[in-house]
Amino acid sequence: MPAVTFHGHSCFEIKGPDAKVIIDPWLTGNPLADIGQDAVDGIDAVLLTHGHADHFGDTIEIARRNDALVVATFELASFCEDKGCRVHPMHIGGAHDFPFGRVKLVTAIHGGGVDADESGRYTTIPCGIVLTMDGQRIYHTGDTALTMDMQLLHNRVDLMMLPIGDNFTMGMEDAAQAIDFVRPKVAIPMHYDTFDLIAADAQEFATMVGDLAEVRAIKPGETYQLT
Ligand code: NI
Ligand code: MN
Repeated sequence: MPAVTFHGHSCFEIKGPDAKVIIDPWLTGNPLADIGQDAVDGIDAVLLTHGHADHFGDTIEIARRNDALVVATFELASFCEDKGCRVHPMHIGGAHDFPFGRVKLVTAIHGGGVDADESGRYTTIPCGIVLTMDGQRIYHTGDTALTMDMQLLHNRVDLMMLPIGDNFTMGMEDAAQAIDFVRPKVAIPMHYDTFDLIAADAQEFATMVGDLAEVRAIKPGETYQLT
């Protein structure tokens, strides 16, 4: 079963039986990161939800050094290709079977600028990621508002990672509603406490969620093992 390691903010490494991927690898400058980007190795793919700096982060360095495939929306993948990365472009609603697992990009409601792009040519819509690996369905919502589209994933998710920090994304109340929509077995809160502006109390969130799902508020450096 996959093991999911949190590196702070929205960055997770997911290790399966014979592959490892990283989602939204912002490590350099991330106040919560437990490792530097140079410590990320053995990565088969970098999966991106959007191009904001706190998600795109160290994508180029990690992808090049590991010869990892960057999987992202078409425009964001094109940006990475122009920077010398191997890429696989996709778009919202599409899924693809990779050697490491199946990836489907789903709706997220958020900004789509690519912070590292000075040309402004690669602005696109953001996404959430549903990764199926070793039979386990993992939904990383990316940065998003609460959206009715989440109901499409009702009872189809084993592990959901979702923001609770408010201001730029869902806050705790909407995140608890998102969990009611999706009903994952386990939920890991993200995108909180990185800055004062997105401070949130994960224990209070767990109380709000109640028995809708098991909330595992893992800290940077900790791993949740799916069972
Ligand atoms: Ni963002
Ligand atoms: Mn963000």
